[in-house]
Formats: sequence, structure tokens, C-alpha cells
Amino acid sequence: MTRELDAAAVVEYFRGKNILITGSTGFLGKVFVEKILRVQPDVKKLFLLVRAVDVESAKQRVQTELTTREIFQILKDKHGIGFEDFIQEKICPLPGDIMYENLGLGNAQLTELYKDIDIIINGAATTNFFERYDVAFASNVLGVKRICGFAKNCDKLKMLLHVSTAYVAGEQEGLLQEKPLLMGETLKEGTHLDIESELKLIEDTRIELKANCPSERAEKKTMKELGLKRAREFGWPNSYVFTKAMGEMLLGHLRGELPVVIFRPSIITSIFKEPLPGWTEGVRTIDTVIIAYAKQALSFFLVDLDPTMDVIPGDMVVNAMMVAVAANSEEQAQTIYHVTSSLRNPTNYSLLADSTHRYFLHHPPSSGKNGESFRLRRMRFFSTVARFRVYMAIKYKLPLEILHLVNIALCGALSRRYKELSRKYNYVMHLIELYAPYTLYKGCFDDMNTERLRVSMKNKEQDTNVGYEFGFDPKTIDWDEYFYSIHIPGVIKYLISD
Ligand SMILES: NC(=O)c1ccc[n+]([C@@H]2O[C@H](COP(=O)([O-])OP(=O)(O)OC[C@H]3O[C@@H](n4cnc5c(N)ncnc54)[C@H](OP(=O)(O)O)[C@@H]3O)[C@@H](O)[C@H]2O)c1
Repeated sequence: MTRELDAAAVVEYFRGKNILITGSTGFLGKVFVEKILRVQPDVKKLFLLVRAVDVESAKQRVQTELTTREIFQILKDKHGIGFEDFIQEKICPLPGDIMYENLGLGNAQLTELYKDIDIIINGAATTNFFERYDVAFASNVLGVKRICGFAKNCDKLKMLLHVSTAYVAGEQEGLLQEKPLLMGETLKEGTHLDIESELKLIEDTRIELKANCPSERAEKKTMKELGLKRAREFGWPNSYVFTKAMGEMLLGHLRGELPVVIFRPSIITSIFKEPLPGWTEGVRTIDTVIIAYAKQALSFFLVDLDPTMDVIPGDMVVNAMMVAVAANSEEQAQTIYHVTSSLRNPTNYSLLADSTHRYFLHHPPSSGKNGESFRLRRMRFFSTVARFRVYMAIKYKLPLEILHLVNIALCGALSRRYKELSRKYNYVMHLIELYAPYTLYKGCFDDMNTERLRVSMKNKEQDTNVGYEFGFDPKTIDWDEYFYSIHIPGVIKYLISD
């Protein structure tokens, strides 16, 4: 049962708590760490598990990749010269890796952590759609198992919050519920998934590759293709969402009586309100359109403009995470939250394309070389893979075939050029296959549990009596205003200029 809360109670909940956080060097992790330290400076300690060889390098990573980033500026201003001391006191970097037994931590450290940790936030994941199967499996599947094992050893654990993704639903259409994925479940009728067999397949493939593979590059390619093949075998579009789905299955299966919350955000976009509107990291699917416009480098794109495009700003995800931890603390249950917008306040690529075009009409992008502006061209959008393929065939594949014939006639004089263009063509078609499930997405995420959480916050959006926001209602977003005034300038500032 979800507890009734208000912003003050959420802030108070985190006082004196020890929190283990994975994925803190990533986009969402940074937003989470900053928010906790800003709203509850009396949190006991944040233990940040960071991939590093030793404590010194873990500290170094936290400093260069986290606390010196722009998103920490408000906190820096608040603490002034005491900022470094505050960080030293509150943050404990732990060199480790979720894919290893005991998270790669030593026994003495583990004993201490088992005694101290109150909350675990598992945000670490390999987020590349086309990752090597062994790598994605190690972080997104075995990593969740290791975190769950660690959590079970903690004496006073109140919550394990695991960040998954709404797209564990694959390419299903219609209203998608906040339902757990059961062990063995797949998205393709007539198939059954055995996670142990997948691990065995990876191990066998590794042994075979070690014995027979001519190069590291070939090994990498084989492992990437294996991930894609296995994902598609069971109905998922790529190895990222496939392994995230398996991670959820394992957690549900192994958690026993652990209090668990699974967060499933859709596409996480730049900060809406706090601490730095527009701040973002990492190019998301929707940012490709904005970047292509800014550079005027791409005149066409595969995207269906009409169906709902589900995006949710990073600060809303973090606000919801904090409220969910406080609301479900010590409940021996597993609750799933879709942190999404498609049901409550849908937007679409059409609006994004219009906002982007209008933005660049008012702020013309320059070529960079001698500062002159581009003549802004509207992008052309194809709403089906078939139409996109026809266009690509006429515009690029046909000239490529002609080049091939000319090359033969010239005894290979144009071989290099032909190879390079072929490689580029194949790369674009490969990217299109990977991104199409998201640019042509037709599902809508039901968020009943998340709505309950919103309702449980007594004064909800209006509750500013502690001076902090815990809003996560997408209905409060005017999408055009957000894209035009916040997200697009953010993408330009943080993804293109930087
Ligand atoms: N971004 C989105 O649009 C989105 C949408 C839905 C769900 N999610 C989920 O939200 C979470 C955070 O996403 P993000 O966008 O912040 O990802 P991100 O920027 O790619 O960061 C991933 C983080 O996970 C860490 N990590 C990966 N493998 C690890 C391992 N084996 N051991 C320890 N740490 C490891 C990375 O560490 P290194 O710095 O060492 O690489 C990094 O800190 C993920 O679980 C993702 O699946 C993201």
C-alpha cells in the first residue's frame, strides 16, 4: 500500500540514510545524486559504485564526471568554499562493477556495507542498442542478479529500486500495463526463454571465438550480432531491451521478500525545471532529429510523425524515484512504475519537428567555418520502413550499383570510393533498423501505479513548503514550450556545443 506523503515527508525520509547508487556517472545517476544532496544535505552517505581499478581512480571519476559538472552548480553556490568538504563527507566512491561476484568489493568493505546500507538505487546498465551480447548480458542481467544478492545480505535494507525501461514491452501496440515480466516469458508466441541457456550460449560462443576467431574486431561483430539475433528470436527489437527484460525477470524471481520497486521510464530527456533546465547528456533517439536540423546534415529521416512519442524529463524521473522509495519503504512487495507521458499528456514527432523547425528559423544554425547561416531546409519524413527503403534505393543504392559497374570497367580504379560509400550506406540502413522500433512506436504506457503515487503526494505540484519540487506529472508540461525553450537549446548547448 502506498503511503500518503508530502514534499517535506519525502525530504525527511532521506535524512540519515545510507544509499548505495550504481550508474552515478551516467545521465540519470548524476541527476539523482545532485537532487538528494541538494534537498537533503543530512543524508548520511551516498556510496557510489563506480567502475575503476582502485579507490583513487574511483574518486577521480566522481570528481571529473560528476561533481564538477554544470548540473552541480547550484549545490556549489549553496556550499561555497565548503563544497569540497561537503562532497568528501557525503560521497564515498567504491571501485566496483555490478557484473562481478559481490560487485567486485572486498570482504571487509562488504561487511561494513551490509550493516549500513538502507537503500539501493540500481541505475547501472549498458544502454547501447547494439552492444555485444556478453557485455549487455553481464551488466543488465547478471548485474541485476548480483545487486539482488547484495541486497539480500543487507541487515536493514528498506528499498531496492531498480531502473529498467518502459521498452521492455518491445514493439507491442495498444495500452501497455505496469505488469511484471515472468521468468521465461517472451514476446513471440511459441517461444520460451531460458536465461541459464542464454548464459551457456554466450560462454560457448566465447570459447569458440577464442579458438577460431581471426581478430578482436570479428569477435566483437559476432557477439553484437548474436545479441541482436537472440533478442529478435524472442520478440525484442535489440539486445538492450532484451537484456533489461531478462534483468527484470530475474529480479522478480530472486527477490524473495525484498522491498523492490522497478522503474520503467520511457525516453528520458533534458531537465524540465530543477536544477538546470535543458541540461542533458547522451544523444537520445529524438535528439537525432534536432542535431540533424542543427547541422543541416540530414535531409530525411524515418519517423512516423503522428503516433505518440513518449518522453519524460530526467528531473521528473528522479522526483518520482525519491517519492517511490519513501512511499514503498519496507513494503515486502514488488511495485512497477511506468514513468511515461503517452497516456496523461501525449506528444508526437510532428510537434517536435515543428518546434525544431521554428526554433532554427528564429535561431539559424551556422556552418561553423566562417559563421554564415545555412539556408534552412525542412526535413522529409518517411513513415514506413518500406517507403524509406524505396527512397534509399533510388537515391543511393542505384548510383552505388552504377559506381560498382564503372569500377569493374575501370579495373578497380574506384574501389576505395565504392567501398567507403557502400560501408556508409550499410551503416545508415543498420541504424535505421535499430531505431525504427522507436521512431515508429505505436504503444501507449498505462501509468496507473505512478498516478497513484502522484495522488499519494498530498499537496502534489503545489507543495513547495520545503522549497523543493517533487513534481512528476507530465500534464504540467506544455510540450511545445518545453521543446522550443528548454530541450532544443539544451541539446545545442550540452550535446552539440560542448
Ligand atoms: N536514458 C534513457 O532515455 C533511459 C530510458 C529508460 C530507461 N533508462 C535506464 O536508466 C538507467 C540510467 O540510464 P542513463 O541514460 O543514465 O545511462 P548512461 O548514461 O548510459 O549511464 C549508464 C551508467 O551505468 C554504469 N554501468 C554500466 N555498466 C556497469 C557495470 N557493469 N557496473 C557498474 N556500472 C555500470 C555506467 O558506468 P560507466 O560510466 O563506467 O560506463 C554509467 O554510470 C539505465 O538503467 C537505463 O536502462 C534510461
